[in-house]
Amino acid sequence: MFPGLLTGRVLARDDACVENEVLVTMWPSETSKSHALFQRALRVMVAGTTRHIPWQDPYPMFAASCSGSKVTDVDGADILDLVQNNASLIHGHAHPEVVGAVSGQLLRGSACTLPFEVEVSLAELLCERVPSLEKIRFCNSGTEAVMLAMKAARAYTNRPRIVKVEGVYHGMYDYAEVSLDPKPANWGNDPARIGYARGVPQGVLEDVVVVPWNQPEALRRLMLQDAGEIAAIFIDPLSGNTGMTPPTGAFLDEVHRTARDIGALVIYDEVLCFRLGYGGAQGRFGDRRPDMTVLAKIIGGGFPVGAFGGRADIMEAVFEHRQGKPLLPASGTFTANPISMIAGLVTMRMLDHAAFAHLDDLGDRMRAVIRESFTGCGVAGQVNGLGSMLQIRLTDRPISDYRSAFWTVEETEAMKRLQLALLKRGVLITVKGIAYLPTVLSDADIEFFSSAFRGALEGVSLQQDA
Ligand SMILES: Cc1ncc(COP(=O)(O)O)c(C=O)c1O
Repeated sequence: MFPGLLTGRVLARDDACVENEVLVTMWPSETSKSHALFQRALRVMVAGTTRHIPWQDPYPMFAASCSGSKVTDVDGADILDLVQNNASLIHGHAHPEVVGAVSGQLLRGSACTLPFEVEVSLAELLCERVPSLEKIRFCNSGTEAVMLAMKAARAYTNRPRIVKVEGVYHGMYDYAEVSLDPKPANWGNDPARIGYARGVPQGVLEDVVVVPWNQPEALRRLMLQDAGEIAAIFIDPLSGNTGMTPPTGAFLDEVHRTARDIGALVIYDEVLCFRLGYGGAQGRFGDRRPDMTVLAKIIGGGFPVGAFGGRADIMEAVFEHRQGKPLLPASGTFTANPISMIAGLVTMRMLDHAAFAHLDDLGDRMRAVIRESFTGCGVAGQVNGLGSMLQIRLTDRPISDYRSAFWTVEETEAMKRLQLALLKRGVLITVKGIAYLPTVLSDADIEFFSSAFRGALEGVSLQQDA
C-alpha cells in the first residue's frame, strides 16, 4: 500500500490543487516503527506522552535524528520541521557551531556549583542588545522565568495581583494560566477569570485581572478597578492565541501609561517572540521600555533555559542577598548550566542584524506562498505573523484578538486535517497552523513547502463562519 516508503523519500509531488496520496512516511500506519514505540510508551506514560501541547493525532511521530531544517522519523522519512521544538531552535537542528561549542563544554563539565564565564558572556550579550535589560538572571524554562518575574513584581511592589491578556499562554504557573482557554459560554463581557486546570484555588483567580488584547480603553478601565492591588501586567507582543496580531501603538502606550499611573510594573513575555529582532520584540514595536522582560527558547540554543531581567533598581531590590535574605530568594540546580549558556551564546552571536533581515525575508516569502496558495486553490484563509513567526488560519474573518481568533469546531477540524495532510506530505507545522522558521530554511525547503501546502489544501473543506 505504501510503495517506496521504506526509503523514506518523497514518492511524488504535485503542484496542482489535486489530492494525490503523496505520502513520505509510514506514520501513522500501524506497521510504522512510531506505532510500535507508541504502544511501548502507552504502557508507562499517560496517553503515551509527556507533553500535552505538541500532541499529534492520532499519535506522535517519533524522531530518529534531526539536522538543520529536517527531522528524520524512525521509519526514515525526512520531514521539513517548521516547529523547531516549539520555536526554541532558530538556526535549525544540530547546527555545527552549536554542536561544536556544546561538545567542547561537555568535556569541561556539564554542570557545576561554581559559575562559568559563559554565563556572564550570555548575560552581557543580552543586556547589550536590549536596553531595558539592565540586570538579568537565568533559570531553566519560560514557565520558571514567568513565575520568577511574577514573584519579583509582587515582592517589589508588595502587591498580589497580576494582569494578563485573555487567551495568552505564558507557561504553566497557576496564575499565568488563568483564562488561557475561555469559551464564548463563560468568557463574559469583560473577560472573566477562568481557571485552566481543575482545582485552581479561588485565590489564584482573584489575583489575576484579565484584559482584552488591543483594546486600550478596556485595559485602562479594568486595571484601574484593581489599581492598588496590581503588581504587574504581562504582555506577549505576538501571541498565537490572539491570532498573531501585533499590538497597536495605542494599546502599548496605554499599557505603559496605566501601569505607571497605578505603580505597577510592565513585563514583556518575550519567551517566544524574542526571535522577532536583534533587540527582541520590544525593539521592533517601538522604544517603550518594559520594567522587566522574560526570555527563554532561542537564548538557550536548543537547550533548556529561561531568563528574566530588567530595571537594575527592581532586580537589586528583589534579589540582592549579600546583606541577608533577599525579598525573593531564587536558585535552581541547573540554573545557568554551561551547556545551555554556551549553546545560547553561540546561537545569539550568529543572530546578527543580517540574520534577522534574512528571517524577515524568509517569513515574507512563506507568507506570500501561503496567500498565493489560498487564492490559487480558492480556499478562504489567511496567514498572520511577523518575521520568522506565522500562523495559517482557515477562515477569512478578520482576526484581531482572542475572541475573533477563537477556533470554531469546523475550523479546528479543518486545521487538523490540513496539518495531518501536510505531515503526511513531509511538513510539520503545529495543530494551530503555526510555523517558526529557522535561518537555515533553504529555497528548496520553501519550494517543497509550497508544493505540499497546495496539495494539502485540497483535502480541507471548511464551512465558513456565518
Ligand atoms: C509566551 C510564552 N511564555 C512562556 C512559555 C513557557 O515556556 P517553557 O515552555 O520554556 O516553559 C511559552 C512557551 O511556549 C511561551 O510561548
